[in-house]
Amino acid sequence: MHTVEDLAEGCRVGWRNHARCIGRLHWQSLRVMDRRDARTAEDVAQACVEHLRYGTNGGNIRNVMTVFPPTGVRIWNPQLIRYAGYRQPDGSVVGDPLNADLTEIAQRLGWRGRGGRFDVLPLVIEMPGKAPEMFELPSDAVLEVEISHPDLPWFAELGLRWHAVPAISNMAFELDGITYTAAPFNGWYVGCEIGARNFGDVGRYDMLPTVAERMGLDTRTSASLWKDRALIELNQAVLHSFRVAGVRVVDHHVAARQFVTHEEREQVAGRSTPADWAWIVPPLSASTTPTFHRGYSVEPGLSPDFHYQPDPWKSAARCPFADPQAA
Ligand code: ARG
Repeated sequence: MHTVEDLAEGCRVGWRNHARCIGRLHWQSLRVMDRRDARTAEDVAQACVEHLRYGTNGGNIRNVMTVFPPTGVRIWNPQLIRYAGYRQPDGSVVGDPLNADLTEIAQRLGWRGRGGRFDVLPLVIEMPGKAPEMFELPSDAVLEVEISHPDLPWFAELGLRWHAVPAISNMAFELDGITYTAAPFNGWYVGCEIGARNFGDVGRYDMLPTVAERMGLDTRTSASLWKDRALIELNQAVLHSFRVAGVRVVDHHVAARQFVTHEEREQVAGRSTPADWAWIVPPLSASTTPTFHRGYSVEPGLSPDFHYQPDPWKSAARCPFADPQAA
């Protein structure tokens, strides 16, 4: 069993090792909450709420990781804060399509969503050998930012909002051969995660056609670059709104420069910086950032590190209502 100090240092090195994170300049500032004493789903849910309150810090976001017992505890939510996605009869989704499965699971556990585009899902927590239990997040643990634009007044009418804290809760953390299956961690957002991907992706909120229309762009030909121009305004709106709301956020130019600083510091310390180019290079204006022009390599087998784990609801043995048709 790790001491508290070994666990905390292990978490920091795990972050430093993780090839897909651009924010690693800050690895030494990670605060680690040792909750290996959690015994019930309520204990886990309560610690997640405390994590969010401490990490949110009124908008001055702190990097936090909470470690639960390495006994197969699972938080089913991919992040502590996620918006519901309600499947409609015509196949479309109201809300975030990414979370449509989890939304149905929460509903089968008895959750009644309001059917909106930005309804915060309850936590779904599984203790080893037990059925998952559901916990609503108190609203004071969920800071959100309403999205407006510095010079396009109609932007606020789109009704967009996003949560301040990205807290990944479905990855496993491996340290010295011990796998912590529930170890949520958060940093602060890079604006383009929201502005380019969450709002822009066709499989997410798919806002580019709406924004381009409101901008009066010619959407009949891709050569008008309507997607690119709408994308810029979306990203401008996200960065502006977070700044005005006093919520910590970083733009992709600063994030990429900080990553290069991190690489340089690591080199001085005699270490390489494993990195996954496709994840380190931002999804817009890639060639304007320094990381685009550099080569990176992942170094498989590093430890400690964070790893993906299969979605628990895809395993019939653990999910009382897993789809028997699903592979
Ligand atoms: N890309 C994810 C999202 O948009 C968050 C991933 C973690 N990001 C971070 N800045 N720590 O919700």
